[in-house]
Amino acid sequence: MQAVTFDAPFRVRCTDVAEPKLLLATDAIVRVELAAICGSDLHVYRGVERGLDRGTVLGHEFVGSIVEVGAAVQRFRPGAKVVSPFSVNCGACWFCARGLTSRCTDSQLFGWVQDGRGLHGGQAEYVRVPYADASLVAAPATVPLEQALLAGDVLSTGFHAADQGGVRTGDVVVVLGLGPVGICALLGARDLGAAQVLCVDRVAERLELASQHGGIPIELGRDDIAARVLAATGGRGADVVLEVVGHPDATRLAWQLVRCGGTISAPGVHNEPAFAITPGMIYDKNLTYRSGRAPVRAWMDRTLQRLARGDLDLKALFSHRMSFAEAERGYEIFEQKLQRCTKVLLQTS
Ligand SMILES: NC(=O)c1ccc[n+]([C@@H]2O[C@H](COP(=O)([O-])OP(=O)(O)OC[C@H]3O[C@@H](n4cnc5c(N)ncnc54)[C@H](O)[C@@H]3O)[C@@H](O)[C@H]2O)c1
Ligand SMILES: [Zn+2]
Ligand SMILES: [Zn+2]
Repeated sequence: MQAVTFDAPFRVRCTDVAEPKLLLATDAIVRVELAAICGSDLHVYRGVERGLDRGTVLGHEFVGSIVEVGAAVQRFRPGAKVVSPFSVNCGACWFCARGLTSRCTDSQLFGWVQDGRGLHGGQAEYVRVPYADASLVAAPATVPLEQALLAGDVLSTGFHAADQGGVRTGDVVVVLGLGPVGICALLGARDLGAAQVLCVDRVAERLELASQHGGIPIELGRDDIAARVLAATGGRGADVVLEVVGHPDATRLAWQLVRCGGTISAPGVHNEPAFAITPGMIYDKNLTYRSGRAPVRAWMDRTLQRLARGDLDLKALFSHRMSFAEAERGYEIFEQKLQRCTKVLLQTS
């Protein structure tokens, strides 16, 4: 089958690999119809996040239909259209029972195989899904499949980020980073009643996208961000900063912009060896800092229902649609933000 595999930093390719097989009775095999490239794939692509085996099938955002199920799978039969979260979870452990599905004791992330162990990803014609009953969600007939795909990561991650930030009615919220996750965090903050959402990035088309979704665009490197936030908050600073970048510069900026007693919610994935701000800086502002892998499976029922309402127009998030054979170029375009690229959708041909 065709699959997008990791060779080395900045080297991915569409190649022919063996089709996955059922390994456990709780597995399902899904025929992928649509897959997407995520900002998280870029950490691996850029060689910032290391450890991935050469030949690992990439990708953790996909939708498709079930072709085969193990003997213990009860909720799905071949032919069922499903959305997958970016990581699988058992549905039975202490963490799953409490909704922290991303920290399931047997959680596995799609597209991460290290030293021969792990789970191949969904940028392929077929993918093996462990714990199919607990992990997969039936795709609602009322939601276009490419929008349903967003519930498996960026939409659920963005909504979780806003919720984790404790956004309340009337709050002034700052979103740092207007990639697909940042745009979804903006939508999540608005749903929670934020009065103003100030949206920071340096990429013009991403600022435009934020303003189309009700955010107030502020250009990094040009506008005086701190002055804008202080002006919007009577000189206090933002109630909540959603740091959706994953870079120490963004952590420092978030600290600068948040008010005393406020919260920084940081879904951005960090790989630096030390925290960019000191314990004293947190103390001096009485801050709450919350981070971590989003428990998207616990959010997917809600975000799919939210999409079914039909008033979240997320079509524009996908700037590029291409075949798996063109994925190598897709990674380049997305990484370098060429051709106004916001997100790449890969279609099986
Ligand atoms: N916690 C989770 O479970 C989870 C899930 C999905 C994605 N993520 C992470 O969320 C982050 C965003 O993902 P994405 O797909 O939207 O990525 P993306 O790379 O498309 O977007 C990041 C944006 O941040 C902007 N940026 C860079 N430096 C900045 C700064 N200092 N201030 C403000 N903006 C800045 C970039 O111009 C870019 O538009 C990534 O780190 C990704 O790994 C986390
Ligand atoms: Zn993702
Ligand atoms: Zn579990």
